[in-house]
Amino acid sequence: MKRATVTGWGKCVPPAVLSNFDLEQVMDTTDEWIHTRSGIKERRVCHVETSDMAAVAGQHAIAAAGLDPEDIDMLLVATCTPDRLIPSAAAMVQAKIGAHNAGTLDINAACTGFLYGMGIATGMIAGGLATRVLVIGAEKLSAFLNLRERTTAVLFGDGAGAVVLEASDDPEEGVLGMELGSDGRLTQLLTVTHTGTEYPPEAPPYEERTIWMEGREIFRNAVVKMAEAASNVLEQVGLTLEDVDLLVPHQANIRIIDATAKRMGLSPEQVYVNIASYGNTSAGTIPIALTEALEEGRVNPGDLIVFVAFGGGLTWGGAAVRWGRRTKPVNASDAALPPNEKTGLQLLAARPRT
Ligand code: UT7
Repeated sequence: MKRATVTGWGKCVPPAVLSNFDLEQVMDTTDEWIHTRSGIKERRVCHVETSDMAAVAGQHAIAAAGLDPEDIDMLLVATCTPDRLIPSAAAMVQAKIGAHNAGTLDINAACTGFLYGMGIATGMIAGGLATRVLVIGAEKLSAFLNLRERTTAVLFGDGAGAVVLEASDDPEEGVLGMELGSDGRLTQLLTVTHTGTEYPPEAPPYEERTIWMEGREIFRNAVVKMAEAASNVLEQVGLTLEDVDLLVPHQANIRIIDATAKRMGLSPEQVYVNIASYGNTSAGTIPIALTEALEEGRVNPGDLIVFVAFGGGLTWGGAAVRWGRRTKPVNASDAALPPNEKTGLQLLAARPRT
């Protein structure tokens, strides 16, 4: 059976920054509250669409793997904020990057979407259905932020990350095991209202639209489920928490990350955190964090990396990955978003729904 191994990685974070101090100007909040409750200092706001960020991240990942876009035979985009319902963001990315030999599919498992994408890619590679899969996590959550809902508007941001997973015969490296879970009885804990077929055209689409959640309940579930997923996946592959070199968790709240790491018995040095700069980019957080961990030299050949995530659904997941020999990109890409002159606040104000 073929192993799926990560051979390329990349990210795209839009240039416009929205700081906590900016948010203080448009809603009843403070930098102090946001930072102490979540660990976030600033986030990015995208001036173009989800598929544009996804395409840039994907091109960096393909170059890092030393491949051309035509080498990709499956292109998966994990997102809950696609440009449109049809076509998929994945099909849009395919056209933008010229990955003409790929099948395309979007995955919506909210913040766990990237791990679901890795799981689908791993299964397709193991089953002989694909050999080179581009998995992208990309979100433009700024489109759904409601500035009257301060409990969620301060937490989310825009961004994309990507990996290339390739078939390998080396049993020592790649995705060793995964656990993906969901409890649909908890759908009400995290939702984006006034979207989809439930909401008829006469419903007020913009003013009422918001990301809504029961923060404390999600917090409690997140810590339990992420720690459980990590230990289950390690047990599945005959390893223990002591074997873990680096935890790359979903970046939703620094307190959730710290509590999960504590439950797993990991030290802060074993955990990658970048939430202060980007906030919660949902399916984007893990591939962005992995890319930055590689850029900062935090990943070494042969490391055991554990990924954990949770999100709306509720969904959760864990993956254990044995890193290969290469921690530097084969090639670099000059892919970039089009220029932007606006500030984060100006971009938020320009949305029809604010
Ligand atoms: O990827 C999955 C996405 N979901 C999550 O990550 C959510 C997980 N949950 C959390 O991260 C935390 O529960 C939050 C950051 C959302 C909230 O932190 P908390 O410590 O659970 O605060 P809380 O909701 O209990 O609110 C405490 C207080 C409330 O005031 P009172 O009732 O104590 O007077 C809120 O009204 O903080 C108030 N508050 C705010 N104050 C200033 C809520 N939002 C804000 C705000 N600025 N933005």
